Amino acid sequence: MNSYRADFPILSRTVHGHPLVYLDNGATTQKPRCVIEAMTDEYLNVNANVHRGVHFLSQQATELHEAARETVRRFLNARSTAEIIFTRGTTESINLVAATFGQAFLRDGDEVILTEMEHHSNIVPWQLLQARTRIYIKVCPITNDGRLDLEALQQLFTSRTRLLSCTAVSNVLGTINPVQEIVQMAHAHNVPVLIDAAQAAPHMPIDVQALDCDFLAFSGHKVYGPTGIGVLYGKEQWLDRLPPYMGGGEMIGRVSFEHTTFNELPYKFEAGTPDYVATTGLARALDYVTDIGWPAIQAHEADLTRYAVQRLQEIPGMHIYGPADDAVVSFLVGDIHHLDLGTLLDQLGIAVRTGHHCAQPLMDRLGIQGTVRASFALYNTREEVDALVSAIDRVRQMF
Ligand SMILES: Cc1ncc(COP(=O)(O)O)c(C=O)c1O
Repeated sequence: MNSYRADFPILSRTVHGHPLVYLDNGATTQKPRCVIEAMTDEYLNVNANVHRGVHFLSQQATELHEAARETVRRFLNARSTAEIIFTRGTTESINLVAATFGQAFLRDGDEVILTEMEHHSNIVPWQLLQARTRIYIKVCPITNDGRLDLEALQQLFTSRTRLLSCTAVSNVLGTINPVQEIVQMAHAHNVPVLIDAAQAAPHMPIDVQALDCDFLAFSGHKVYGPTGIGVLYGKEQWLDRLPPYMGGGEMIGRVSFEHTTFNELPYKFEAGTPDYVATTGLARALDYVTDIGWPAIQAHEADLTRYAVQRLQEIPGMHIYGPADDAVVSFLVGDIHHLDLGTLLDQLGIAVRTGHHCAQPLMDRLGIQGTVRASFALYNTREEVDALVSAIDRVRQMF
């Protein structure tokens, strides 16, 4: 996999006089040259607004934009491009479902199930909904080893449960949740499921038909694509029954001051000019991943994660939180504050994330303020893990 490093220009820079060791991929991944070039080329040679013009450039931009939708459809194995909605990211995708599903299907006293390991973006949209409709948020607990307690989850379903929304992979604990089993459990109670795939999309193949999930969200920037673009997948039969999210151009059929009709799927949910250059970049990123192939990426990242856990455990005072199934290792060392550790690692050129990782309820459950998180991508190496371990050891001796 080492050869792919050359595709990422930023990886050859230095930080504070040290070679960059970028281990903050859970926050965002670096971009391969092909993504940057595809976007630059579109701005240099194609740029025009999509879906609006009869002229050549507009049609070419529209073709690229709609080809990108087809690439996403293939990436997720969705049935139809009508089920692929472009958003700004996972956060917007979840807000879209919370607002529209909430308006269409949630009434006072209804229940939505979340889990203790959710990112704030899968908690707060449901709380915002509570300002309008008095829904109850029920929370599936985690076990002490950082997995969902599926027996407890089973007990949470009632006749008022309307939706289950949960992450496929924890951005803190690195837990891979048994999504298929969870969907089957929810469907047995006639409850649809929204999957937050922000941390899954960069690391494993996703087949929405095999999972049978009703909605699924992910962000382009975490899977080697540009910022500001993401995806909401929804089963057509659900999307058809939801009201529009935002109003504006493109999402309409016919507008008059008396009455407005709405466009067909997926455009009903895409008001305004989309980031059509970002969709090109996203498609290029997904093709890049697909061309390398999941078996190679997964084998490499599994090796890196195992190696990191094993090497980190050699450090006295090391405490790793969660099972670290997948490309994410969260830890604390003795009583060194996570912020101090992260700041000193940065001085040695090592980029890690520190803090609560937008998962404060999970931090409360763990009884801590935050962790240091190393998260891996296809371009990371065992040598970088070694650099992390020796840097932590150096910092540890300063305390
Ligand atoms: C599990 C999970 N869900 C949602 C998000 C939010 O993604 P975005 O900020 O790209 O919308 C993140 C980002 O860190 C995440 O890790």
